Amino acid sequence: MSRFPLYRPRRLRRTEALRRLVRETHVVAEQLVQPLFVVPGTKVENPVGSMPGVAQLSVDRAAEECRRLVDLGVSSVLLFGIPETKDARGSGAVAPDGIIPRALEAIRKAAPALVLITDVCLCEYTDHGHCGVLRGDEVENDPTLELLAAEALAHARAGADIVAPSDMMDGRVGAIRRALDGAGLSHVPILSYAAKFASGFYGPFREAADSTPAFGDRRGYQMDPANGDEALREVALDIEEGADIVMVKPALPYLDVIRRVKDRTGYPVAAYQVSGEYAMIKAAVANGWLDEARVVDETLTAIRRAGADVIITYFAKDVARGVYRR
Ligand code: PBG
Repeated sequence: MSRFPLYRPRRLRRTEALRRLVRETHVVAEQLVQPLFVVPGTKVENPVGSMPGVAQLSVDRAAEECRRLVDLGVSSVLLFGIPETKDARGSGAVAPDGIIPRALEAIRKAAPALVLITDVCLCEYTDHGHCGVLRGDEVENDPTLELLAAEALAHARAGADIVAPSDMMDGRVGAIRRALDGAGLSHVPILSYAAKFASGFYGPFREAADSTPAFGDRRGYQMDPANGDEALREVALDIEEGADIVMVKPALPYLDVIRRVKDRTGYPVAAYQVSGEYAMIKAAVANGWLDEARVVDETLTAIRRAGADVIITYFAKDVARGVYRR
């Protein structure tokens, strides 16, 4: 490599046109996924206090939003369902006429080309807010698997393009793959939340999805933030069980994990810029402390540079609208 003064890196930084010419990483709307929170009722738009710009939407409103997203060039949404009623086993999650199947039907009509991903988990559907069934205060792994498989099946039968298990039970990807294959749905991909950390950054989501655990926390099933090697084992396990896309979550605090997963597997990698990452930026912007356009672009670029192909982000719509264009 040549040295100063022969090599002057600043030569290619002088104008935006030059910078663009040699830019290595791009954030493109077609690789962004917009999460949506779907609630019962009609004409409902409940703003989520800790996530300015995000609202819980009834099925009709979610369908309208999806039409707008497609027109803007966003190619995918991730759907979270909040049911009418919750119980200990999260029955609403497996109902063929539950909130997600109803949303899938309406959105498919409104926006046929949109890639519809559904979050497969029990925490939005259980009255105790945990991601599995309980025995005492313990979240039971194996009895939860059949419920998750039934939930994924209900979503796929209702037209989900991709199912995305986020519960972190061991063996759930295999259980879901077998259920889908057995029902003639071998073409439906699984996006697994493979390395999902027990993170403080999910706080605002639990308001949006009404899924705060009634007791305890999720550290008994989600990963310890300190563990990078274990993340690779989690990812390897999910790939062995049939995952098609593997996710690292949250995104910005775990860029090292994203890079290692990409290098190790060569699989499509998704990263989830979670609710707390969104809220943090929005709060600082509201105070005049950060420039929203710059930091949104910078964080998404960093997540892509680390190796993510797909980014799930609450900023997807505004990126597609060109709000942050430099
Ligand atoms: C449900 C789920 C969570 C998120 C996605 N799926 C919450 C959790 O595990 O508590 C978090 C998303 C976000 O914070 O934006 N299992």
